[in-house]
Amino acid sequence: MFPNHRPRRLRRTPALRRMVSETTLAPHQLVLPVFVKEGATEPTPISSMPGVVQHTRDTLRKAAVEAVEAGVGGIMVFGVPEVRDAVGSGGVDPEGILNVTLRDLRAELGDSTVLMSDLCLDEFTDHGHCGVLDGEGNVDNDATLAVYADMARAQADAGAHLLGPSGMMDGQVGVIREALDTSGHADTGILAYSVKFASALFGPFREAVDSQLTGDRKTYQQDPGNIRESLREVHLDLTEGADLVMVKPAGAYLDVIRAVHEVSDVPVAAYQVSGEYAMVEAAAANGWLDRDRTILETLTSIRRAGADVILTYWATEAATWLNRR
Ligand code: PBG
Repeated sequence: MFPNHRPRRLRRTPALRRMVSETTLAPHQLVLPVFVKEGATEPTPISSMPGVVQHTRDTLRKAAVEAVEAGVGGIMVFGVPEVRDAVGSGGVDPEGILNVTLRDLRAELGDSTVLMSDLCLDEFTDHGHCGVLDGEGNVDNDATLAVYADMARAQADAGAHLLGPSGMMDGQVGVIREALDTSGHADTGILAYSVKFASALFGPFREAVDSQLTGDRKTYQQDPGNIRESLREVHLDLTEGADLVMVKPAGAYLDVIRAVHEVSDVPVAAYQVSGEYAMVEAAAANGWLDRDRTILETLTSIRRAGADVILTYWATEAATWLNRR
């Protein structure tokens, strides 16, 4: 009577499939990354990320309310300044675009969502690197840490619940933790970009923030072929006080998400980055993929790999679908 083992029995009806499904995907697990452009009076479309815009302060407020109403878990804010300089002053200035926007959103949303801020210099420097440069033009780790500490205080003052250091400087989590603890912000948390690869998949993001970068970030972001190094980065960030750890990009690094999940005793986040978004949108626009099914499949796979939280540009839309299910 072969085959006497029939896995298909549990796939026969939608109800059976639902009952035995192993991986959940819920709106509160999704975080929406957003861009806000200083001085803008109209939202500016980002051509390599169809459907995503550089917001004005006003349109961002509306998009944030819409995201929260759809039930997303949080919002991650990136600022696009009008003026840049060598040390990224706009990131530290309380009147800089990111900090004023954090204040806008915290006033609008209170504690009804988790407000997160990108803590990095690349959007604010005229050379586009994630840190300040030394005399030879190399990124100066420890001089950068001092600026990150100032940014951390400014962002916490502005109302961020979680700070997202994404610059891959050694010691950034420890320095930020200390800056927060000694400035009355012991309750502000750190979503550490612990494992961030020097990835081509960040391409469209560079347009999104009008990046000034020439060259690459290989002296601070990780080699895509390495995974033991990722675990070392996670270990260091946990020791330094990370409240969550993140892997980025997500879809091409599911093995890394799984490995980090296994060694971490804090929630694990994964960032489905601009290039992952662009690939699906481009294929869908050509009629080559079923857009909505592909989006849900990628998100489910990132969850299955071990991510508790997913940053995705589809957060609001996917949350809306999930609410209807
Ligand atoms: C750096 C930062 C980057 C992204 C998030 N934070 C760009 C980079 O490291 O070059 C990429 C996000 C994406 O591609 O969606 N502030």
